[in-house]
Amino acid sequence: MYYPEEVIEELRNRNDIVGVISQAVHLEKKGSRYFGLCPFHSEKTGSFCVSPDRQMYHCFGCGAGGNVISFVMNYENLSFAEAVESLAERVGMELPKQNYSAKAREEVDRKARMLTAYKDTAIFYYKQLRSPAGAKAMEYFSRRGLSQETMNRFGLGYAPQSPAPLYRYLKSKGYDDGLINDSQLLKVDERGGWDRFYNRAIFPIMDSRSRVIGFGGRVMGSGEPKYLNSPESPIFDKSRNLFGLNFAKSSKRSYMLLCEGYMDVIALHQAGFDCAVASLGTAFTSGHAALIKRYVNEVVITYDSDGAGQKAALRAIPILRAAGIRVKVLDMKPHKDPDEFIVHLGAEEYEKRINEAKGSFFFETDVMASRFDMTDPESKTTFHRELASALTAFPDTLERENYLTAAAARYSISADHLREMVSFAGRGRSSESETGRLFGDHSPSRREKGRGILSAERTVLNWLTVTSLPYETVLRYVRPEYFRGEVLSDMARMIFDRLKAGERPDPAALIDEFSDDAELRLRASAIFGAELPEDAREAREVLSDNLRIVKKDYINNALRTETDPEKLQQLLTEKALADRMKFDETI
Ligand code: GTP
Ligand code: MN
Repeated sequence: MYYPEEVIEELRNRNDIVGVISQAVHLEKKGSRYFGLCPFHSEKTGSFCVSPDRQMYHCFGCGAGGNVISFVMNYENLSFAEAVESLAERVGMELPKQNYSAKAREEVDRKARMLTAYKDTAIFYYKQLRSPAGAKAMEYFSRRGLSQETMNRFGLGYAPQSPAPLYRYLKSKGYDDGLINDSQLLKVDERGGWDRFYNRAIFPIMDSRSRVIGFGGRVMGSGEPKYLNSPESPIFDKSRNLFGLNFAKSSKRSYMLLCEGYMDVIALHQAGFDCAVASLGTAFTSGHAALIKRYVNEVVITYDSDGAGQKAALRAIPILRAAGIRVKVLDMKPHKDPDEFIVHLGAEEYEKRINEAKGSFFFETDVMASRFDMTDPESKTTFHRELASALTAFPDTLERENYLTAAAARYSISADHLREMVSFAGRGRSSESETGRLFGDHSPSRREKGRGILSAERTVLNWLTVTSLPYETVLRYVRPEYFRGEVLSDMARMIFDRLKAGERPDPAALIDEFSDDAELRLRASAIFGAELPEDAREAREVLSDNLRIVKKDYINNALRTETDPEKLQQLLTEKALADRMKFDETI
């Protein structure tokens, strides 16, 4: 995409950098420049500087810098063209139409049409809620403590008793069946289109720019399923959107609250916690973590206090950490979720719980501790070993030492003994471990590559736990010996064993196989965070790529050590085949 230089220049002239940045960063004038806390790294003193004369910004702490367009690109994580569009919109400037290829143009137009269709549908539901037909839903929301203002802010609605009227409405607005169908708004058949959400309370799902891209619908009262969610569509990717992010992204708080449900997010926002988000009825993924990392460096997990919530938190923690986010876990006991907590104990008490939230490391080790009988010396020793092993995960010596001292106090162990155990546990695996392999090698390209391969291995392994392909077919694409790294190779062996026996591998059970070692278990659970896109075509593509990466890495390694000319020849043939390998089975 290309905009002429004059257009870009006009855009920069009309968007004063101080005006744009001060919407995101609190700036104070010092001389001819402005200073504030850098939004690109976490700091306590303001080393972020904006110069109105030069229309540039620069951070003396982390080295970030650029002009108004690069600021928007980096801050909102947009492409150049998206940043230009956003800034043009900000000042009401008309941009010249792009020279898309006809096909690309059509696709862009079609997505724009779908977005309007979702917006119109949201308006339809919104009006229904506020009409006599919506009285029951209105009463439902009110009974759950939501104010009119909150209902309006979140665009809450009601899908009428009959599944038919929405289709008539959309047709009257000029949307054709093809678009309605492809957008996943309605199922259209010979007799018309049927609203899956009929007679449900409606939660519109918005992307970070407040555009409606889906809906969640709740039964009012009891009934199954409790929530229905829109399927994914060309405009709705569940792994790249979070409910509430459109508001949370501009919160003044330096962290986000991560919840499980729509109602939790809404109740928290109403109580003044405008930094609450939730994933969309799906598990938390690395895509979500990357999304959050655009805005904050810290997450406070506030999942349900039950066993399922605890498990989900243990699963989300390594994913967040891998994205470079600090994680804390909030305790809501004796209540189940944030919504119930606020209803019973109020916002002030919740704020206290945020301040008391436990660092994720101690959340994990407390869970670990609860599984051991501390009155039994043997069991207690095993716990200490696991604790020591978990401490080896901190690559930074000072940080490790700080955690070690705190852990020693927390679990009443002598710090010296613990330190001894840590260095013992650390020696055992430093050479072979993934962390060792990644962090020991300082050439960035190797390191990056290593990461790519590990992440491909994870994606493939995770897929193997959900596929219903027969074992023989699986073997045509991937073999257990392809997987390297301590945890991945063990996991691969277990998964293949189960597939061979005709069983479906259960991730929860597989992780438990690593219960002896907290660090290994964390890495094992990270495997199951590597999810494929829900759209089948997209998933096949991603899987093809990852299968190719895994297989080629295996072959490349074999090539390095193989000396037999015949076998070498065979490997080279396999490598050529791997390059062209395409996965086109049913996932
Ligand atoms: P309330 O009972 O309305 O307070 O629900 P909640 O917000 O406490 O949600 P809950 O913990 O029951 O579920 C959390 C999230 O999981 C919901 O917001 C939905 O996104 C999703 N969810 C819950 N139940 C279902 C279901 O039956 N089907 C689907 N697809 N998603 C569900
Ligand atoms: Mn709830």
